[in-house]
Amino acid sequence: MKIKKAEFLISNTELKKCPPADKPEYAFIGRSNVGKSSLINMLTGRKNLAKISGKPGKTRLINHFAINDNWYLVDLPGYGYAKISETEKNKWSKFIHSYITERENLACLFVLVDSRLSPQKIDLEFITKLGIAEIPFVIVFTKSDKLSKSGLSKNISKYKAELSKSWEIIPGNFISSSITGYGKEELLDFIEKTNSIVNK
Ligand code: GTP
Ligand code: MG
Repeated sequence: MKIKKAEFLISNTELKKCPPADKPEYAFIGRSNVGKSSLINMLTGRKNLAKISGKPGKTRLINHFAINDNWYLVDLPGYGYAKISETEKNKWSKFIHSYITERENLACLFVLVDSRLSPQKIDLEFITKLGIAEIPFVIVFTKSDKLSKSGLSKNISKYKAELSKSWEIIPGNFISSSITGYGKEELLDFIEKTNSIVNK
């Protein structure tokens, strides 16, 4: 799929202020600094569409982008960011939770995990919760450019082995690099296919 148009629409913390739920929507979630905003820029081919930072905790709101006028990408704040107050943390987790569980047009949630790390408890627990709540999701292993081919496949096998302890069928998964563009076509194809199913 070609991205002909990508525009920022609105940022907020309230579900009712999000754009009308009239198009399929794909949201990006994962630990702070995992590369959510970078992946949105990589997929859309727009360097500064979503705001990026080397410091965790950059994205603090629900950010909607309209793509090709017929689907939405959503950049969400990260979880597991230690340097914010408890009050702020609770606020984030509340609006993220209501977004994930109540947004009617959420076609798929992309759960980003850092391909360099061994399976992290916080990600595994989050994935388990999605399963229980029956939220459609796939996993994206990010920053693959930072590993050798063998290091990457070793880490991903480890991750899959961990997932297979609680999942009969391993959730859909992709590998990405926002530096090299690896995974772009595969992810956009997946979105295109999902759009056609949702729009039927
Ligand atoms: P928060 O908004 O803070 O939750 O972070 P985020 O998940 O949106 O991460 P962001 O896209 O801001 O990227 C965090 C840092 O990781 C930045 O310094 C990026 O340049 C870097 N980064 C993101 N993706 C990649 C990648 O695929 N490869 C490499 N090498 N660096 C990446
Ligand atoms: Mg971000």
